[in-house]
Amino acid sequence: MLQKPKGTYDIYGDRALEMLYFRKLVNALMDKYNAKYFETPIFESSELFHRGVGETTDIVSKETYDFKDRGNRDLTLRPEGTAGIVRSFIENKLYAENLPLKAWYLGPMFRYERPQAGRHREFYQFGLEAFGSSDPMMDAEVIGIIVNLFKILGLKGVSVNINTLGDKASRENYRKALLDYFKPYLNDLCEDCQRRYEKNPLRILDCKVDADKDIMKSAPNMIDYLNEESKKHFDKVKEYLDVMGISYKVNSNIVRGLDYYTHTVFEVQADIDGFGSQNTLAAGGRYDHLVEFIGGPSVPGVGFAVGLERLFLALNAENIDIREIVCPDVYMFSTSDEQKPYVLSLSNDLRMAGFNVEIDYNGKSFKSNFKQADKVNAKYIIIIGEEEVNSKVLTVKNNETKEEYKVNLNDLIEFLDEKLGDEHED
Ligand code: HAM
Repeated sequence: MLQKPKGTYDIYGDRALEMLYFRKLVNALMDKYNAKYFETPIFESSELFHRGVGETTDIVSKETYDFKDRGNRDLTLRPEGTAGIVRSFIENKLYAENLPLKAWYLGPMFRYERPQAGRHREFYQFGLEAFGSSDPMMDAEVIGIIVNLFKILGLKGVSVNINTLGDKASRENYRKALLDYFKPYLNDLCEDCQRRYEKNPLRILDCKVDADKDIMKSAPNMIDYLNEESKKHFDKVKEYLDVMGISYKVNSNIVRGLDYYTHTVFEVQADIDGFGSQNTLAAGGRYDHLVEFIGGPSVPGVGFAVGLERLFLALNAENIDIREIVCPDVYMFSTSDEQKPYVLSLSNDLRMAGFNVEIDYNGKSFKSNFKQADKVNAKYIIIIGEEEVNSKVLTVKNNETKEEYKVNLNDLIEFLDEKLGDEHED
């Protein structure tokens, strides 16, 4: 039997209901922030990600799905959303329009990682990128969006961790300090870190292999290398988070696995007993030079992405059910094939009048039709026989109370409207 590729999964049943509800919720929330919806290609030129996410990051050096198309182009399945949105922002010259622009997206991302609970090779992210403000107010706003989203969902066990990587000059200072610090210990570091030492020493702090070593614990701290400007920015972000009543921890170990960040970086963790190691539900930060680096003008940006699988795991762990179960208002069937056209046309009219209608297509027996109506949880059953067609008086049965009504065809919509009351949305 053919099977889905390792690390992927099918969306149907409960997961489909969760996804649909989540999309609806996020759509409404994004409107409140005047954020605009974006969809960018699922594959882009490999160069975009190599340049955008960073050549030395794990994502690009080990995890991308790279391929050549039949025209010999180098393409990559997107491992994240930011680079594509930035490309689109530049290519469509959106920087020349009204800024700030808040762009949001929701779709699949691809990383060749070792699959486990909360880690997949195809996974979904909901993200937002805000362009055109270097003000720390935007950093706080962006973190506030995630906090509000989780609050609306009713998720309680979450903690916000923030850090700063400072501006370019502070980062350069810090880079030098790290080079000096790690130099005598180079042989104690893993092979990857020895490579990182040459290319991007900040990455060493993000290493999972070396994380517990003592040399990591006493490594220089970014906070001590920030210049005045960077310190001021970070202090303001904290002040604004306080103003919004958002509690957070400053965690100097957060350096993030992508190269594009400057100033604020953050991760929102699930703080739920037994949740497992993949507990970062959302992450992001500021990237003031990425637009320019990818070939656009100098426009600052800040954004985040939420991992949907992990979020749904966290909701399940807290027994929060976001499925919206939809059941037919009416299940309709005919007693013989002759009345099938009537069923088809009446069900069509009812749907156009706003009702959810399921019908029998297969000419099932009376008994199987009643069973089917129960299985799909239909609220009312309408049976169409020769007599109903001729008399234009229909038999409508409440599938729960089993009460039967004789309803004139002309009064049917009014009848259903009245019976289904608030449950029925136009
Ligand atoms: P990221 O930290 O690589 O950042 O991913 C963001 C979130 O996506 C993670 O916190 C996690 O919830 C989810 N995620 C990542 N990899 C996987 C995986 N293999 N399986 C399941 N979930 C996963 C970014 O992607 C940045 N683009 C975020 C950003 C936006 N920064 C600025 N703007």
